[in-house]
Amino acid sequence: MSEPVLSMARPITLLQPARLEIGAGAVTRLAEWAAAYQRAFVVAMAPTVGFVDRIGLTGAVETFIDLPPEPDLPAVEAVLAAARAFKPDLVIGLGGGSVMDVAKLVAVLWDSEQSVPDVVGVGKVQGRRTALAQVPTTSGTGSEAGIRSLVTNPATLAKMAVESQFMLADIAILDPELTYSVPAAVTAATGVDALAHCVEAFTNIKAHPLIDGYATLGIELVGRYLARAVKDGTDTEARAGMMLASYYGGVCLGPVNTAGGHALAYPLGTRLKLPHGLANAIIFPHVLAFNATARPEKTATIMAALGLSAGADETSVRAAAHGYCRDLGVEMSLSRHGAKAEDLPLFAEEAFAIKRLIDNNPRPLELADIQAIFTSAL
Ligand SMILES: NC(=O)c1ccc[n+]([C@@H]2O[C@H](COP(=O)([O-])OP(=O)(O)OC[C@H]3O[C@@H](n4cnc5c(N)ncnc54)[C@H](O)[C@@H]3O)[C@@H](O)[C@H]2O)c1
Ligand SMILES: [Fe+2]
Repeated sequence: MSEPVLSMARPITLLQPARLEIGAGAVTRLAEWAAAYQRAFVVAMAPTVGFVDRIGLTGAVETFIDLPPEPDLPAVEAVLAAARAFKPDLVIGLGGGSVMDVAKLVAVLWDSEQSVPDVVGVGKVQGRRTALAQVPTTSGTGSEAGIRSLVTNPATLAKMAVESQFMLADIAILDPELTYSVPAAVTAATGVDALAHCVEAFTNIKAHPLIDGYATLGIELVGRYLARAVKDGTDTEARAGMMLASYYGGVCLGPVNTAGGHALAYPLGTRLKLPHGLANAIIFPHVLAFNATARPEKTATIMAALGLSAGADETSVRAAAHGYCRDLGVEMSLSRHGAKAEDLPLFAEEAFAIKRLIDNNPRPLELADIQAIFTSAL
C-alpha cells in the first residue's frame, strides 16, 4: 500500500477563534477585551475557580462551578438555568474540555428556544448573540480552537456531539500558567489525547497538507515536552509547549477529525467511565500500530518525533508506543480499569458502530480487528 502524496483534492474549511492571546500570564489580557461587556457568566470547576480573580473582570460576574467532569445533559441544563437567571452578554469557559464544551452550549442556548437535544448533530444551532471567550486550563482537548461540544447522554452514557460554527470562540487565551496545578496523571492522559488528535488527523484518510503541518508541529511538541510536564508540573517551557500542542490538535479536529483511536476509546468512556484522555491514552499505541503498514512514512515521522526507535512493523510500533505511554505513568491495562474479557465483544460492537470515525481510519477496521485490539489491551 502506498501513502498518498500531497493532495488538495478534498476542499476543507478551517475556522479558528478570531483573536488569540498567547503567553505566560496572558489570562490578564482577557479583561481588556472583556471591558466591552457588562455581564460575564464564567463556567468553571473547583480547581479552576481561583483563576477568575486573575482575569480581573470589571463588570458583573457570575461564576458557575458545580459542573462534573464529562458533564451529562442534566448537568448542562443546570448551567443553562443559572445563565438564564443571570442574562449574560459574555460567556467565559475557564477549565478543561468539560468546561469549554459547556460554555459553547451556554453561549448559543441560554437565550434560545432550542434545547441541547435540538442541536445535536452538525449545523443545527440557529445563532448566537452572546460573546464567547475560552480559557483552557488543561492541555488536551483543544476545545478552545474548535466548533464541537460533547455532552453525555444520561440514558445511554454515550457522547452526543454538537457541531456549529456559532460555537467558535471570539477569543481564546492560551496561558500555560493556568496548567501548573494539573496533577501528573491528568497531564499525562490529556497530553496523549492532544497527541492522538494530531496523529489521527495526520494518518487520516481525509488528511490534508495544511492540517498535516499543524499535526506534525503538535506531535513534535508532545515528543519534546509531555514527559517533562508530567515530571515537573511547574516546568514553564514544557507547560507552554503542551498548551500549543493541544491547540494544534484542536485545529486538526475541525477539517479532518480523528479516526479509529477515538472510536475505540468511546466505549471505554461510557462503559468503564474512564475520562476521555485516559481512554484515548490506553488505545493510542494499538491503533497507531494497526495503521503503521497503511501509513509507513507518517508513522516513521511520528515515532521519530516522539523519540522512539522502533522497526516499521506493527509489533515493534506497538511495543515502543505502549512503553511511551506507560512511562508517562498511564495504567495501560484495561483489566486494571475493571474490564473483563466477556465485555470486549460489546465494546467492539459499540466502537465499530461509530462510523463517522471508523471510516476515517487509513487501514479498514473490521469488527474482528477491533475485538483483537481490545483483547491485546486487556
Ligand atoms: N470539543 C472537542 O473538540 C473535544 C475534544 C476532545 C474531548 N472533548 C471533551 O472534553 C472533556 C474532557 O476534557 P479534559 O480532558 O480537558 O478534562 P476535564 O475538563 O474533565 O478536566 C479533568 C480534571 O482536571 C481538573 N482540572 C482542570 N483544570 C485544572 C487545573 N488547572 N488544575 C487542576 N485540576 C484541573 C478538572 O476539574 C477535572 O477534574 C470530555 O467531556 C471530552 O468528551 C471535547
Ligand atoms: Fe480527544
